Amino acid sequence: MTTFTALTSPRPRAAVVAAITALATVLYPVLTLAQGTPIKVGLMLPATGTFAALGDAIEKGFRLQVQEQGGKLAGREVQYFKVDDESDPSKATDNVNKLIKRDQVDVIVGTVHSGVALAMARAAKESNTLLIVPNAGADGITGAQCAPNIFRSSFSNWQPGFATGVVAAQKGYKRAMTITWNYAAGNETVKGFTEAFEKGGGKVMKELTLPFPNVEFQALLTEIASQKPDVVFAFFAGGGAVKFVKDYDAAGLRRTVPLVGSGFLTDGTLEAQGAAAQGLITVLHYGDNIETPRNNAFRNKYAVTYKANPDVYAMQGYDAAQLLVAGLNAVKGDLKQRDTLIAAMKKAQIDSPRGKFTLSAQHNPTQDFYVREVRGNYNVVTGVAVKALADPGRGCKM
Ligand code: BEZ
Repeated sequence: MTTFTALTSPRPRAAVVAAITALATVLYPVLTLAQGTPIKVGLMLPATGTFAALGDAIEKGFRLQVQEQGGKLAGREVQYFKVDDESDPSKATDNVNKLIKRDQVDVIVGTVHSGVALAMARAAKESNTLLIVPNAGADGITGAQCAPNIFRSSFSNWQPGFATGVVAAQKGYKRAMTITWNYAAGNETVKGFTEAFEKGGGKVMKELTLPFPNVEFQALLTEIASQKPDVVFAFFAGGGAVKFVKDYDAAGLRRTVPLVGSGFLTDGTLEAQGAAAQGLITVLHYGDNIETPRNNAFRNKYAVTYKANPDVYAMQGYDAAQLLVAGLNAVKGDLKQRDTLIAAMKKAQIDSPRGKFTLSAQHNPTQDFYVREVRGNYNVVTGVAVKALADPGRGCKM
């Protein structure tokens, strides 16, 4: 006959205690090892092409914040894995999967180009990998494609477009033409501009585009000269912005048709643009001369570390790391406490060089947009275009 021993009998209780002790002995080094292992950070940024300098500045900004944390994140060493995305959307899924599947990173930071970032967001959502976008403004990332594990430290394309539209309308311009690359960032920025400009009483007469990253502007500049609008709104960045501003000036248009833009037109580009950019008015969530102790400290440390002045991209990279620090500190570096980490990132108030900001419900910065004027090699803040501008987060279900 089979006899059963009650669970409360002394012998099995001793056995359970012994088993737990044995398990703890086995697990303790594993758990300690998890805390002792480096946090794997995947940097997917452009290292080549028209946005290469932007990627470089973002990485420098990110590393500067890590350096300020003693070279660690929540006490853990940091191991970097890098992929050059070439600002090429057709390679984006393969590239991001190198970080997700091959390197099995804990968090991805990237990228600059909206089309590439949309593919990254898809892959991050499917694999539930933590993603922090340090530049790309694609509206969908914090709109229709939003997800609990996707955050942005920069802006949505709608935001700088809208804020520039407000300023152009306030200046009394009535007839505008727009010019940009035909991809998500260009088209969505123009849409934001048009929304505010037309609300303010203006009319966009014509939208001019060329494929990304082409810089053959001549035919389009000829069309602007013949249509003679009151103002031209442009979205270009990086190497393309340098060429556009120089070509606009060389065509003699600056004397006849005022040019305004979202601030990417003149950020990180002024040394190369020289006299052609002097006096240009742009609108952005950063400026070189924000006179706060926070911005001064950031600019000084960046200059000492890299022998260069920071720009908006460096600042966004720095803040991507600040956002990650807010999450990791809340869980003492334990990435397995995902819900707590995400909750801390969601409610973080980031003490940014641009000024303090919080995130919208869709994880996009709610922030001030500044009017800037190019003076020498600086984008000098001359006023505030829109205070605490929140992206509408259209289509986000979260
Ligand atoms: C974008 O593709 O989203 C972008 C690129 C450069 C500057 C700003 C936005």
